[in-house]
Amino acid sequence: MAIKAVRGVRDILPSETGRWQRVEAAGRATFEAYGYREIRLPLFERTELFARGIGDETDIVKKEMYTFEDRGGDSLTLRPEATAGLVRSYIEHGFQVEPKPVRLYTIGPMFRYERPQAGRYRQFHQANVEALGEPSPAVDAEVVCMLMDFFQALGLDDRLALHVNSIGDAGDRAAYVARLVDYLAPHAAGLCAECQARLGRNPLRVLDCKVPECQPVIEKAPSILDSLSVDAARHFDSVRGYLDAMGQAYTVTPRLVRGLDYYVRTTFEVKTTELGAQDAVAGGGRYDGLVERLGGPADPGIGFAIGLERVVLLLGDAAAGPRPLALIIPLGDAALQRLMPVARAVRQAGVIAELGYGARKLPRELERANKLGVVYAVIAGDNELAAGEALVREMKTGEQRRVPIARLADELISLGNEGESA
Ligand code: HAM
Repeated sequence: MAIKAVRGVRDILPSETGRWQRVEAAGRATFEAYGYREIRLPLFERTELFARGIGDETDIVKKEMYTFEDRGGDSLTLRPEATAGLVRSYIEHGFQVEPKPVRLYTIGPMFRYERPQAGRYRQFHQANVEALGEPSPAVDAEVVCMLMDFFQALGLDDRLALHVNSIGDAGDRAAYVARLVDYLAPHAAGLCAECQARLGRNPLRVLDCKVPECQPVIEKAPSILDSLSVDAARHFDSVRGYLDAMGQAYTVTPRLVRGLDYYVRTTFEVKTTELGAQDAVAGGGRYDGLVERLGGPADPGIGFAIGLERVVLLLGDAAAGPRPLALIIPLGDAALQRLMPVARAVRQAGVIAELGYGARKLPRELERANKLGVVYAVIAGDNELAAGEALVREMKTGEQRRVPIARLADELISLGNEGESA
């Protein structure tokens, strides 16, 4: 029996990688325009980093981590997210001496043992962006706008909604959780089994439940915005003011609490209605206190992660990868020898060309040209060689013209560049 990929883990096939490259390129271009630099981090860390960073009581740490002992007896975990590892690296390499904010981004796979479904996988990919060392609410607004610029660069912004909230400082949150539990406890019988368990363990997560029977109770829950300290409320007002000043539309969603314990004050999520239950395409927030909790200086931080599988799903088939301009078809070995250097020159110029290897008959090669979706087939057999020419055939119209082989590479390169700017 053939061995299959692990459940919830998928291959990203060549038919999809064009879209992935486009998404990653849009991310890099957007983040770098805002002064972010790439950092590449290990895929596994000490388990303790996540327990301390994300929080012992979160679903991620309690139920979803791939944790194992290595041969030396250390407990290691495949990273379920990137923020904890990035902060570990920030502290380890003394980034705090650099001009603030220190702006970093990283792109790569994360691992969570969740129930797989459309848009949710056990190995998935994030683009993760973090600004460290700057407490100003202007950074919160700037980071959120950058996230929306990324979606705009991909033409997706019209299909997405930005939700923002403030969950206050740790003290505000404790006061709110007490109020929330007071409200929820008498309604416990009306909640799903999962929420009844959350009530004792992590009551904030009840607000995030999608089970229909819980909605009437959740809708009437007290708002966290009424529990904010004066400072936290002022911070949130400023964030909203800056978002307004930048013309960035958003909805304030007091139920937006996020699933990781390190957040304080600003939290945000970008949602779609097009992917069913897995509606969050990106999420993030401020995490002042995390750097200190992981043994570093008292530097604040804010950032987000984009779920790349979900972005690629939204892009759909319309955004398939680049197609080759031409299939170059030598008929026989002499023609192959003349056309191989032409193909090389065209490819060196960055124009995508496919090459036949001389042995297949013309109808087979033309069939292949159709399947590849090339714009041109370039054909040369013994007769054309004798005249020093090749036939350039436009696949759509079937029109053919003769081009001297000496000029063929230049001709194809300029056709390729025209197509690109069209
Ligand atoms: P998160 O909300 O856990 O935040 O994940 C961010 C995004 O990753 C989600 O909105 C979703 O698009 C995607 N995602 C999460 N789990 C899965 C999954 N199993 N399959 C597919 N996509 C998934 C964080 O990870 C924080 N570290 C974000 C952050 C950075 N906060 C501050 N800095």
